[in-house]
Order: sequence, then structure tokens, then C-alpha cells
Amino acid sequence: MHTRFAIASLVAAALACAAAAAQIPAQSFAAEQLKTGAEIYARNCSPCHGARMLDPQGASDLRKFPRGERERFVNSVTRGKNQMPPWGDLLKPEEVEALWAYVVAGEKI
Ligand code: HEC
Repeated sequence: MHTRFAIASLVAAALACAAAAAQIPAQSFAAEQLKTGAEIYARNCSPCHGARMLDPQGASDLRKFPRGERERFVNSVTRGKNQMPPWGDLLKPEEVEALWAYVVAGEKI
């Protein structure tokens, strides 16, 4: 009886951990980070990619940027790509992360 209770508690504890772990991605996009991303975007990116990502003209439509390719986003933004200038000297890595959060979360803020 005691053993069964112990196992049940272990399972419950493991499930609680899994639930906490699953929440990490959502938590990593804190409201503050999204706000920072939106501000940097408005200042530096909107002239080409459109205000609030809505009217990209000749530049990529960031609403369609593949959500699984964070690495590519960071590289392209930091080093530039074709007509897009590199941002690595102007933006800190955490600012590029904030931009990624903004692009992934979209215009929900
Ligand atoms: C001077 C205009 C201009 C500005 C400003 C600009 N971009 Fe771009 N961006 C472009 C163009 C043009 C492309 C398309 C490049 C290509 O694929 O040939 C592009 C492409 C991209 C891509 C797709 C890269 C890929 O791997 O396909 C991302 C992501 C991106 N821009 C993010 C940003 C972010 C974030 C900012 C603000 C820090 C920004 N851009 C500012 C012009 C600009």
C-alpha cells in the first residue's frame, strides 16, 4: 500500500515537472520582451518590412517566416541578406531575440 502511494506521488511529481517544462517557451516571450521587440521593429525594420509587418513591399513578409528557423532569423538579421543590411553592429543579441519573439508572437500585442 505504501509503495503504491509512493509510486503515485512520483508520477504526480513527474507530471508536474513536465507541465512546468512545457510552459517555458511561452514564458520566454515575456510581455516586456515582446514590447522591446515591437519597438525595435518599429524603429529599424518597419521602413522595409512594413509597419506592424503588414506591408512588406519588396522585403520578406515576416509573418510568413518559418517559425522553426530561429537560427536562420538570427543569422540573416545579424549578418544581413542581399538587399538587407546587417544589424549585428547596431543591435545586441538580446535585441535580436526580442525581434524574434515579436515576429513569432505576431501582432497580438
Ligand atoms: C533596407 C531595407 C530593410 C530593412 C531596414 C530591414 N530589412 Fe529585413 N529584409 C530586407 C530585404 C530586401 C529582404 C529580402 C532579402 C532576400 O531574401 O533577398 C529582407 C529579409 C529579411 C529576413 C528573411 C531572411 C531570410 O533568411 O530569408 C528577415 C528575418 C528580416 N529581413 C528581418 C529584418 C529585421 C528583424 C529588421 C530590423 C532589425 C529588418 N529585416 C530590416 C530589407 C530590409
